[in-house]
Amino acid sequence: MDKIEKKISFEKYTYEELNENDKACIQQSLQARSKAYAPYSTFSVGASLQMSNGEYILGNNQENRAYPSGLCAERVALFHFGANYPDGIIKTLTITANNKVGNYKEMIKPCGSCLQVIAEYELKQEQKIRIILYSDTNQVLIAEGVENFLPMIFLF
Ligand code: THU
Repeated sequence: MDKIEKKISFEKYTYEELNENDKACIQQSLQARSKAYAPYSTFSVGASLQMSNGEYILGNNQENRAYPSGLCAERVALFHFGANYPDGIIKTLTITANNKVGNYKEMIKPCGSCLQVIAEYELKQEQKIRIILYSDTNQVLIAEGVENFLPMIFLF
């Protein structure tokens, strides 16, 4: 019997410790979050993608009264990227969330479906995507690549 062990790794910061570029990525995701359409869950999520040319693409969750027809913030941004920048390179994906009351303390982690989509674009561009998670409590987690969330990735 062989044993396979995989290590996942996240850097933990406070917002103030970040460089200006990472702070800007967070500010963009907060802007995206402020425009979320989340009347059913009242849980707003914002995602910013920073491309290699420095430009941002923003996404937020888009809910629907037929609940499964809605989509997460990450995939709204990623599919916009995929549809409009077929040769683009994503450097950083930054995600933040809060509820209507404003007392959500977690750093939101992307759901399984969004992780699979992040993995797809990483494989397509043959470059890892830096993933920044920000909580309104000022805490930040940063991972270099989706395999830190999804160590046993689906490949064929
Ligand atoms: N949501 C996201 O936008 N991203 C995630 O990673 C998880 C969940 C949204 C979907 C739904 O609009 C709301 O959060 C509650 O699940």
